[in-house]
Amino acid sequence: SMKIGTAVAGGGHHTDDPDSPSSTEAAAYAEVLNREFSSVSAENQMKWEYLHPERDTYAFEDGDAIASSAQQSGQVVRGHTLFWHSQNPTWLEEGDFGAEELRTILKDHIDTVVGHYRGDIQQWDVCNEIFTEEGELRENNIWLRELGPGIIADAFRWARAADPGALLFFNDYNVDGINPKSDAYYALIQELLAEGIPVDGFATQGHLSTRYGFPADLAENLQRFADLGLETAITELDVRMDLPESGRPTTEQLEKQAEYYRRVTEAAVAVDGCNSLTLWGFADSYSWVPGTFPGEGAATVMWEDFTRKPAYYAVQDALAEG
Ligand code: G3I
Repeated sequence: SMKIGTAVAGGGHHTDDPDSPSSTEAAAYAEVLNREFSSVSAENQMKWEYLHPERDTYAFEDGDAIASSAQQSGQVVRGHTLFWHSQNPTWLEEGDFGAEELRTILKDHIDTVVGHYRGDIQQWDVCNEIFTEEGELRENNIWLRELGPGIIADAFRWARAADPGALLFFNDYNVDGINPKSDAYYALIQELLAEGIPVDGFATQGHLSTRYGFPADLAENLQRFADLGLETAITELDVRMDLPESGRPTTEQLEKQAEYYRRVTEAAVAVDGCNSLTLWGFADSYSWVPGTFPGEGAATVMWEDFTRKPAYYAVQDALAEG
């Protein structure tokens, strides 16, 4: 059955961060989290810069807190992420490593991290955001730039060996519909599967904006990956909008947002093998959107005080009808 997930620890607060929410707020947050969701993703804490701050140091404390809280609450965990161009530690991005050493570093990271969480992770985002909008492999990804495209297959093999029970995914944004970027994933995954590389899933993040219109071919796109025998997932759903000067969205904006959430949920329900629908945070106070897109926001299904927007009910209704 479909897992409904959310990103947790919004803003990426370390457990000892003075900016962390008060204990009252944290308790209210946890109450909603555990009542509403059956899956969690670490918004930041399982990324390289958090887990691997120095070459010979792993820091599992914050990631472990998320995994063990999920376990106590009967939630599965999506692991995010092992191979990305962003949020890498300085020692890695600015180090002067030869190709062979870099390959060893990546293998060590995957062995150690996936091994550490063996049995605790339902789905790993192995490779995150590896293609440009034009469908070219990204030059700003250290692994692809220094080691070439063959390293993708290695990453999947190493992850499979470290935890044979975890489903291994590609994950990206702007691949909700059929376009050059999602076509590039489709071609790559076909190739990898033909070579016997253990790829289990294709995920679209679902960072949508009412400014750009709804990707009407979402279900069709997921279905073509399902037809390759893959699981699919929606991993980071939010729907941002241009905020009026008051900061408060209009009724029309909230209805439009609710429609987007409903249509994504309907597509997820409609596609066999789409068993995971994750929101990138559930309350606006924890959303990444205003920090990245000034003037936009209100992207989640709940207001800052955790009261529900029309979008919340839209997801609930679409799940009930599916
Ligand atoms: O680490 C510092 C921290 O020490 C400091 O207190 C804080 C103050 O601003 O900044 C912290 O770094 C921030 C980090 O989150 C942790 O809070 C970065 O500035 C900030 O840029 C970073 O943003 C994250 C972003 O990924 C970075 O790429 C967002 O929280 C997170 O929601 C976002 O998530 C990504 C997915 O991983 C991949 N798909 C897109 C999605 C949205 O961008």
